[in-house]
Amino acid sequence: MPQPTLAHRAALATVALAVGLLAGWPQARAATDPAALYHNYCSVCHGDKGDGKSRAAGSLSTLPRDFTSAASRAELTPARVAAVVAHGKPGTAMVGWKTQLSEGDIQQLADYVVRRFVMGQAPAPAAGTGISGTRAHGGREADATPLPATPVSTPAKADMTAGLPNGLKGDRKRGGAFYNANCATCHGTRGDGAGPRAYFIKPKPRNFIAEDSRARFNRLALYAAVSEGRNGSEMPAWKQVATPQQMADVSEYVFQTFIAAPPAAVR
Ligand code: HEC
Ligand code: HEC
Repeated sequence: MPQPTLAHRAALATVALAVGLLAGWPQARAATDPAALYHNYCSVCHGDKGDGKSRAAGSLSTLPRDFTSAASRAELTPARVAAVVAHGKPGTAMVGWKTQLSEGDIQQLADYVVRRFVMGQAPAPAAGTGISGTRAHGGREADATPLPATPVSTPAKADMTAGLPNGLKGDRKRGGAFYNANCATCHGTRGDGAGPRAYFIKPKPRNFIAEDSRARFNRLALYAAVSEGRNGSEMPAWKQVATPQQMADVSEYVFQTFIAAPPAAVR
């Protein structure tokens, strides 16, 4: 377990919230809360605080942008952020998201990043964006107490053609050996999250063959997750013990075996 710093506790709360809500909520929600989009798509590299201090940063040749820096304040307008989010930044791990996020989502995300991190303002309530679960269930409007992040249950399908960062190429066979030696104990040999250690762990290890995982984890997202681990869970940051090539190999294996293949084929 990491030291219980404030940041860790915040991350833990967010993860717990996300897990609880993911488990309980129906899939058919058109949520576009920008805080949740940021959490799902950006924080892995740019950090929960937008300062670029993520654990993924250490494995990237160009560091993720610190949105809170003076340079960012001078440069980053919502329009520029939206353009970069849509098209990516060539030669860096920053890929374009326009096949995965709608124009409206990108615009909201850009406004959020600028307001929250570049300008350092407190998060505003998500003014009627998306359908809150509370309202969907006929409860009271939740807007009076803005949540830090309204989890999105099933984000738009990720771009499954995206490659690994930094031009890495993974070897599935080597990755399979690495997976069985290091990951299967938690994630299971079938990738179903039911390895022998899973029983004792909360939140549970990710089930890769579940539909939401298969929509979300392209090679890039897998690599980032493997490299930086998952704050507030037992998912280790593998970059501390594995080489970029090993992380590329295992990401390729997970991608091809569990994400891209139909679940029937791995049973
Ligand atoms: C896999 C890691 C990674 C992910 C995920 C990621 N970024 Fe980046 N981002 C980078 C890197 C690396 C750079 C390049 C560093 C720079 O430009 O200073 C960058 C640069 C940027 C820039 C500055 C570009 C410029 O020069 O104008 C913005 C804005 C940005 N990212 C926003 C986002 C947002 C919003 C998301 C989520 C949709 C996101 N990023 C997801 C790694 C990532
Ligand atoms: C000690 C148990 C454990 C081991 C070993 C482990 N994981 Fe995990 N993994 C977890 C847990 C717990 C989560 C968090 C699930 C969550 O947050 O919903 C997770 C999450 C993930 C995720 C998803 C991250 C996200 O954003 O939700 C990926 C991808 C992943 N693991 C890949 C791997 C790979 C590949 C290996 C081997 C190199 C590995 N894990 C080894 C426990 C483990």
